[in-house]
Amino acid sequence: MRIRTVGAIMGLTCASTVLMAQATSPGSPSLWKSVQGVVKSKLLLPGSRRFQPGSRNADYYTIDGVNTTVFRYVRKQRSVVHCSHFPVGSVLIKENYNKQHKLVNITAMMKSPGYDAADHNWVMANYSPSGKVIAFGKIQACIDCHAIAAKTDFVFAPPPANLLSASTIHAFFPGKRITAPYQRLLKQNARSVLR
Ligand code: HEC
Repeated sequence: MRIRTVGAIMGLTCASTVLMAQATSPGSPSLWKSVQGVVKSKLLLPGSRRFQPGSRNADYYTIDGVNTTVFRYVRKQRSVVHCSHFPVGSVLIKENYNKQHKLVNITAMMKSPGYDAADHNWVMANYSPSGKVIAFGKIQACIDCHAIAAKTDFVFAPPPANLLSASTIHAFFPGKRITAPYQRLLKQNARSVLR
């Protein structure tokens, strides 16, 4: 009897823990819904433009979309380079297109309180164009590279304001070639390279 009671309490505790986790951080279907909302709204990260140059063939062109929370915040700060604390509920996405303008995948990040304090509380995700989850949560590769932009709360200012060096790109994507437009950006904006 006693054991059962403890079991019931444990059950309750577990259930409420799950509910709390859902309240503070999105599951992958709910983040995908937000991603679709951003795509539909066509709201861009201030300073970016549609089909700007990406660094590799898998992201030859990129589109940086945001929800209104991010849009208002970045507008207020005037540029991503002045943004050090993105508000809770911020959603940013990067649509990656190949050279033929075919959508390859969509990465997303959402600011969730208490999710991963050491890494600025971003839930990271990578979706196929139809919304299949390629990766979700605390994705180390995303975190490691976005940590280069720690001053701006793990968000990169759109090219050419922030660029990655060729050696960083090669370290994360061994064997991948850097696109000619991105190489040109690197030559013309050497000071924009984050280290
Ligand atoms: C090798 C470094 C690197 C890795 C790995 C990486 N990113 Fe990024 N990401 C960038 C850079 C640089 C930009 C800015 C380029 C642009 O705006 O098109 C960017 C842009 C973004 C954006 C738009 C917001 C912003 O920071 O400008 C999102 C969202 C994003 N990445 C999510 C992810 C997710 C999720 C992953 C892992 C699945 C990931 N990234 C992996 C370097 C990286």
